[in-house]
Amino acid sequence: MARTAVGALEGRRIVLGVGGSVAAYKAAIVARELMRRGAAVRVVLTAAGARFVGPALFTGLTGQAVASDLFSEGAPEHIALAAWADAAVVAPATADLLGKAAGGIADDYLTTWLLAFPGRVLFAPAMNRHMWSHPAVQRSVGVLRADGVVVLPPVYGALAATGEGEGWGRLPDPVAIVDALGAMLSANGPARRADLPAPHAPDLAGRRVVVTAGPTRERLDPVRFLSNPSSGRMGYALAEAARDRGAEVTLVSGPVQLSFPTGLTVVRVETTRQMLAAVLEALPGADVLIGAAAPADWRPAEVSPIKWKKGDGGEQRIRLVANPDILAEVGRQKGRLIVVGFAAEAGAGPEEALRKLRDKNLDLVAYNDVREPDAGFEVTTNHVILFDRAGGRQEIGPLPKRAVAERILDGVCGLL
Ligand code: PMT
Repeated sequence: MARTAVGALEGRRIVLGVGGSVAAYKAAIVARELMRRGAAVRVVLTAAGARFVGPALFTGLTGQAVASDLFSEGAPEHIALAAWADAAVVAPATADLLGKAAGGIADDYLTTWLLAFPGRVLFAPAMNRHMWSHPAVQRSVGVLRADGVVVLPPVYGALAATGEGEGWGRLPDPVAIVDALGAMLSANGPARRADLPAPHAPDLAGRRVVVTAGPTRERLDPVRFLSNPSSGRMGYALAEAARDRGAEVTLVSGPVQLSFPTGLTVVRVETTRQMLAAVLEALPGADVLIGAAAPADWRPAEVSPIKWKKGDGGEQRIRLVANPDILAEVGRQKGRLIVVGFAAEAGAGPEEALRKLRDKNLDLVAYNDVREPDAGFEVTTNHVILFDRAGGRQEIGPLPKRAVAERILDGVCGLL
């Protein structure tokens, strides 16, 4: 089973940065929620934050000294605190903090600590709606995201300042912030920047690679759909590995909970027909197509514009029609394009993968048995057998999906 967002925080060491905003009082609830989910919390309070809430509140909640001033006697040493933490959440994050973090400015404890910290960071901004929509703030958000920081946008609602009314700028609910932190830690990226894989030789430089990932959804009515448990991890790992080997990558992604990788183009789709259209649009000029997605093979013949009610005879009403097969359509006229498919089997053996290799005109196919505990849907590892058209067969794993992705790309590079 994949680790849930709640389990992702168990035993983690989290630094909570608190900026100067009326919403600073909600940071206390964030701290409580983190601790309730099993995390150890240390708080860093900015000078502006301390004008809204005092350090005694956080010391009382966490049982730990609060860090505020780099030079004060007895303050936790910032390099040691950076080495201690697994991840950081800054909530509320002000426009000032976003700008400084994006620009690499280190003029107080929190901003200095953020530069010294090699792990993953989530910012939850809260501010006046005009400040949030200001191009300077949005530029900072863009820079931070490109640096791999997760920025949880403010939500719509009543804003704190008198007469401000409603707008986008409100700090998300503390539970939603902690959920997002848990999702960030259980998602595809490594927990610490220091754990990033060693750079690979740029053997895909100048190549264009299209990767499909995740499930597709086929709606029955406004509240129900047909889908499958694909998390997108395998496809995202392939897209990120291809990017890191120098390729220009387009990732066509069904609905998944992973944060979007930076440095590549992500096209979001919902249905199999949308995925096919996005792939066909991305293919001109491409060298490689890798189909790691689990597109729904069927869709309901009719989509109801209103919710079906129990007793409407739904049991008899569901009639399915076949969806297009994306790889088969591409395979029919692929020219020099290298096409890699997966075969997700649950009962059929590797011979089924060889049938797909032939029938879809693939160059490589990765067989995975999704009933294995370390392979297939949702888990962070995979175990595949990679077949090529010349009769080659290579068993890979069980290994982290990123490592499996590297071995599949080795196979692709051998064909290019
Ligand atoms: O996303 P994860 O949780 O990390 O899980 C990874 C995975 C199990 C989804 C992945 O490893 C995998 O096996 N992907 C292929 C899933 C699948 O649809 O398998 P299939 O045997 O039904 O299809 C064979 C190939 O045809 C696949 O490459 C698939 O992307 C492609 N296909 C399938 C249906 C369709 N309508 N169009 C397609 O192109």
